[in-house]
Amino acid sequence: NRSKRLVIAIDGPSSSGKGTLAKELANVLRMQHLDTGKLYRVFAVKFPHKYSQARSHEEIRLNTEEEEEMLAALNNDDPGYYSEHVGRMASILARNSQVRSALLPIQRQFVLNAPQGAVVDGRDIASVVCPDADVKIFVSAYASVRARRRFRQLCGSNRKAMYKTVLFHLLHRDIRDTCRSSAPLVRTEDAIYLNNSHMQKAAALRELVEKIKTFL
Ligand code: DC
Repeated sequence: NRSKRLVIAIDGPSSSGKGTLAKELANVLRMQHLDTGKLYRVFAVKFPHKYSQARSHEEIRLNTEEEEEMLAALNNDDPGYYSEHVGRMASILARNSQVRSALLPIQRQFVLNAPQGAVVDGRDIASVVCPDADVKIFVSAYASVRARRRFRQLCGSNRKAMYKTVLFHLLHRDIRDTCRSSAPLVRTEDAIYLNNSHMQKAAALRELVEKIKTFL
């Protein structure tokens, strides 16, 4: 029984488990979930030509139809969106400030339109997208643990993977997402910090639910 509409911002690096936690939190709290990484992935798949525009310093515009196409794709579970290749493309184009400006209103509108509130996960949610979020959470785990999780996922989907290669790509992605000039991944001072390296998913979820209860 919730008395308050909450906006919960969850940030963290790749494979930190933030996406799963955000989805499950939204379920438990009956709120909308927005995976903003997916938005960057969808953009990489559907509008790569717009990224070329951005590189020549033109403003990127998405018309209403294109924005709706992006929102609809958020519900498309095609595994193609979650490939290493698309993740890498998303991370590369996410450095571009014109791309980020084009995606910002879509994210803010989503939150405004969520009647019960929203759990939003990404890299710049607490710092840029929802700086006034009621609850801010930073989820992380050691790079070796995150790479092992990603490695297991890739092996599970029958793709050939080598742990060392996975770790290498993950560290690269961490650097790209953390060291870029526009809206880098940051842990804001007011965020609850959760390092789940030695935690099962259920325990991490329980801990977050307990903390969030204090905001309700
Ligand atoms: O969370 P993810 O791995 O699906 O995100 C893919 C890439 O998108 C990530 O490497 C960086 C970018 N991204 C971002 O710059 N800002 C966000 N809020 C979410 C994702």
